[in-house]
Amino acid sequence: MAGRVIAIDGPAASGKSSVSRGVAAALGWFFVSSGHFYRAIAWGTVRDQISSNSPDSLIAWIATRKLTLLEDEDPTKGVSLLLDGENASPHLSDSQVATTVSVIAAMPAVRDFINARLRALSENHDLVMEGRDIGSVVFPLTPWKFYLDASPEVRARRRASEGAIDTVSERDRLDSTRATAPLTVPPGAIVIDTTHLTLDQVIQTALEHLHLPELTTG
Ligand code: DC
Repeated sequence: MAGRVIAIDGPAASGKSSVSRGVAAALGWFFVSSGHFYRAIAWGTVRDQISSNSPDSLIAWIATRKLTLLEDEDPTKGVSLLLDGENASPHLSDSQVATTVSVIAAMPAVRDFINARLRALSENHDLVMEGRDIGSVVFPLTPWKFYLDASPEVRARRRASEGAIDTVSERDRLDSTRATAPLTVPPGAIVIDTTHLTLDQVIQTALEHLHLPELTTG
């Protein structure tokens, strides 16, 4: 039987990752960052010197890639990604990855490749999955959808406090304006503005909206 999916979408640094981990921990479900999949592929194009400006060579390259998922025993840690047997995890925050990822994420061949693997994960797990199109495209039928947002100033501050120096606003622009699966509020999603909320408050707000047997006591 297919697992259940909680979809958490939103722009960069809106709190998706921390909130998704917190919700996954509260429920004992499996955490998945779909952004890590896009970053792993972006890292592969840098590693293999595949130009993100050449869709044809990228399509030929991705058709022969082997992406292996290593599941951690702790479900809230999610999966590590091996691309052609090489661990992508240490490279996911590289500056070249941050500048390439939105370009490759706009390509339908890349999205199809990743979506198939994201959907396969739901065959064996209850998932809390975060990204940009989880509620709109990857799992449009799930009844549990959230869209997190925060002011651009707060998001830029959060990213800086994580030590990241990537251009959040430029990535947001590319992610929101692309033709395929743009960042959008999925129909039926509960929107949470996290600007003035603590992490715990956002997790609690999300949990309160979920009517799941795991959360009923007595
Ligand atoms: O969440 P993140 O910052 O790690 O995501 C990295 C990039 O991947 C982001 O700029 C857009 C892309 N992405 C996407 O297009 N669709 C998703 N479901 C997740 C991420």
